[in-house]
Amino acid sequence: MTLTSDPGREAPSDTWIVATKTIIDMGESVAPPCLISGTANEELATAIAGELGLELLERRFEVFPDGEMYVRLGGSVRGRDAYIVQPTSAPVNDNLIELLLLIDTLHRASAGRVTVLVPYYGYARQDRKFIGREPITAKLVANLITAAGADRIVAIDLHSPAIQGFFDIGMDHLTAIPLLSEYLKEHSLPDSIIVSPDTGGVKRADIFARVLDLPIAILHKRRASARTVEMAAVIGDIRGKNPIIVDDIIATGGTIREAVETLVRAGAHPAVRIVATHAVLAGEAPVLLHHPAIREIVVTDTVPIRVEVRQALPTLRVVSVAGLLANAIRRLHAGLSLSELFARGEAPPI
Ligand code: R5P
Repeated sequence: MTLTSDPGREAPSDTWIVATKTIIDMGESVAPPCLISGTANEELATAIAGELGLELLERRFEVFPDGEMYVRLGGSVRGRDAYIVQPTSAPVNDNLIELLLLIDTLHRASAGRVTVLVPYYGYARQDRKFIGREPITAKLVANLITAAGADRIVAIDLHSPAIQGFFDIGMDHLTAIPLLSEYLKEHSLPDSIIVSPDTGGVKRADIFARVLDLPIAILHKRRASARTVEMAAVIGDIRGKNPIIVDDIIATGGTIREAVETLVRAGAHPAVRIVATHAVLAGEAPVLLHHPAIREIVVTDTVPIRVEVRQALPTLRVVSVAGLLANAIRRLHAGLSLSELFARGEAPPI
């Protein structure tokens, strides 16, 4: 096994050196892994396969007349380590069941270690009981993935880092912050300020602020319902600044829309950038985010973005996590540290 430098990728200049710089030639001594995609984000899985120089394993999904799902693999996986790519994005329940069926199928087909790459971990926002008589879905989904037989899970920017502890199997929590901040660095940022749209996102915003050497402001959000939010206060001096709102998920777009309007009302320039890892963009989100004060929306491809959404949002820029996940697979397969995917030499920082 050899370590080689990837000439196609330049290291960012600050401490966030992404180890996409380093690629691992998986050599002849290790059986190549097999990579299987669910149907949730085949574009991303294909891009990962391309980075690794692997073919995606053929598989067939069917739905029985009564709505039950069926899966069959198109080739032998006996003794080979398997990597499944399946975000649990919409349709969330179907994609989750598909993931569970794939894990079970691989085990019954005598695969080696089964690692699931869930770039977007759905159901994560119900990570505790907010009031009585509610489920904790983030834990339930972790139990289901574990019970199905996964040996390891890799996720990106979990809604709450504490969800890592919901797994008793191997868990690697990656972050897209270096990729997103690299994109921001490449575009001029005069008079910018990083803004967290709620107090829960302050740590994430602080990382962006430190990496980009920008000041920070915080909005105090109150959620009136699953679809509506209100911003109760702005903490920090945003007057005359170009805000960069950073969040983990854009779901209905309500948080971002309200944050943009609050910032502009409070005196920020109506030239707001939005940065988020997971572009769930459900329902009317493209309409809400088509706003004259929004200059750019930078997201990743953890969740597939429909063509209609891309057309409705000309300000949308998509940064791919394919290289990050391909490197994670290379390193896992070679038994190497994933912490070194991040230059700080420590666990992903959120
Ligand atoms: C909340 O804690 C999250 O970080 C996001 O701000 C939220 O999930 C976004 O949801 P929506 O787009 O529906 O407002």
